[in-house]
Amino acid sequence: MQDRIRNAALHQRIMSAPEAAAMIKDGMVVGMSGFTRAGEAMAVPLALAERAKTEPLKITLMTGASLGHDLDKILAEAHVTARRMPFQSDPGLRRAINAGEVMFIDQHLSETVEQLRTRQIPGVDIAVIEAAAITEEGGIIPTSSVGNSASFAILAPKVIVEINTAQPLSFEGLHDIFIPTYRPNRMPIPVVTPDSRIGLPYIPIPPEKIAAIVLTHKQDSSAAIQPPDDETRAIAGHLIAFFLNEVAAGRMDNRLAPLQAGIGTIANAVLHGLIDSPFHDLKMYSEVLQDSTFDLMDAGKLTFASGSSITLSEAKNAQVMPEFERYKSRLILRPQEISNHPEVVRRLGLIAINTALEVDIYGNVNSTHVMGTQMMNGIGGSGDFARNALLSIFVSKSTAKGGRISSVVPMVSHVDHTEHDVDILVTEHGLADLRGLAPRERALRVIDNCAAPEWRPLLADYHARACKLGGHTPHVLEEALSWHVRLRDTGRMQP
Ligand code: COA
Repeated sequence: MQDRIRNAALHQRIMSAPEAAAMIKDGMVVGMSGFTRAGEAMAVPLALAERAKTEPLKITLMTGASLGHDLDKILAEAHVTARRMPFQSDPGLRRAINAGEVMFIDQHLSETVEQLRTRQIPGVDIAVIEAAAITEEGGIIPTSSVGNSASFAILAPKVIVEINTAQPLSFEGLHDIFIPTYRPNRMPIPVVTPDSRIGLPYIPIPPEKIAAIVLTHKQDSSAAIQPPDDETRAIAGHLIAFFLNEVAAGRMDNRLAPLQAGIGTIANAVLHGLIDSPFHDLKMYSEVLQDSTFDLMDAGKLTFASGSSITLSEAKNAQVMPEFERYKSRLILRPQEISNHPEVVRRLGLIAINTALEVDIYGNVNSTHVMGTQMMNGIGGSGDFARNALLSIFVSKSTAKGGRISSVVPMVSHVDHTEHDVDILVTEHGLADLRGLAPRERALRVIDNCAAPEWRPLLADYHARACKLGGHTPHVLEEALSWHVRLRDTGRMQP
């Protein structure tokens, strides 16, 4: 334990999870570590769920992003989570959110700590942070994610640290903790390349703030991604052809621009596609580093990756973690407000690749709400990147649920990314380059290049009739959402 808790005085604060969890009172705002199923505190939240069986206990739960180990489900079903922000991806919590039992605040991931810092939302009463170790000075060395942990620990009056001995000590030196100065006199954030190191390798807090230390030993949950299939491979193929064209046109060279790719199966498959491409010396400035990051490094394609978390499949985790030192010099994990910071995203000129649930003929994107009402996961970092990227790309399969749903619709039922933030749309059928096009031109390209062939005549007919009615962005208002209404009433969008 000396190498995990290097400040001798802090050994006295080691206690059981229920004892530490007793510091969390009904009604508190709790900031926990955890980002895309990586690096979450686990023992204390489980103790909270247990305690809620015998006493009233409701909290506002803030994290970096989604939690692993079914924690969001367990806390929602124990009715501990009254309010939740800024992201989740758990089917159990999703059910509670859509039933109106949990108030979910779906936020751009870079913004939560800005709002905390400026006291626009109630402050964190207590932080619960997973760590690989605590330094002599009380600095917290995070594990497989940074997320919002640094600001939670700095802003909260009390911190509970879960030392997870299953997370390797070789994580030390991986993190780069930088907290922006306060507005209105903020200095520029000095990230000028994806590998810029600008902060400290630990979260600096005074040791007196560490109120409890809980010892745990658990692996991160594995990534829930499917291997590439024919459709995701086709999407990757269209994107690679597009990048080749950008290089041929002299807009970038074979190193492309720093890449950001969202979480999930499609984005992972797209990055995988780069292994067999002529591109080289690639860099990532992203949010979550998935299997594809390490596959690209092993293939000699990727020279550096900056993110806020590492989320791997079980097999990839078993390969990467024992030889982590081999990768470490090519990796940085940052607080999510820095990995996703609009200032940095704009400065670096990223190629941002995120996933849409549905898109409309004008290029508006819905990433969060099924049928405009049912929360899926949340906007995550997609808005941080899409608005500010050099190239804002959205990918999606052209249909869902066995073809009953067209992912290209006349009007999206909820808008996360407006047409102003979307440059390129890609489905398995093709790619629509929307740069420099007016809405009437965008519609033709989206219908012809991205919609599934069987849906094109219906979309083209809708658009032609809408154009006759006039307008800059023509619509037949009484029909614009009729595809969704038909899906609700008949179980399919087809007439
Ligand atoms: N209508 C209804 N359901 C749809 C749909 C549509 N138009 N399009 C997809 N779906 C369903 C799929 O059928 C699937 O359902 P299932 O879980 O029951 O199988 C589910 O949505 C996920 O779709 P899938 O095609 O497997 O894609 P994915 O795993 O890559 O996830 C998002 C897609 C949009 C849900 C996911 O990328 C997301 O949450 N994005 C928002 C956050 C984000 O972009 N973060 C990026 C920075 S990390």
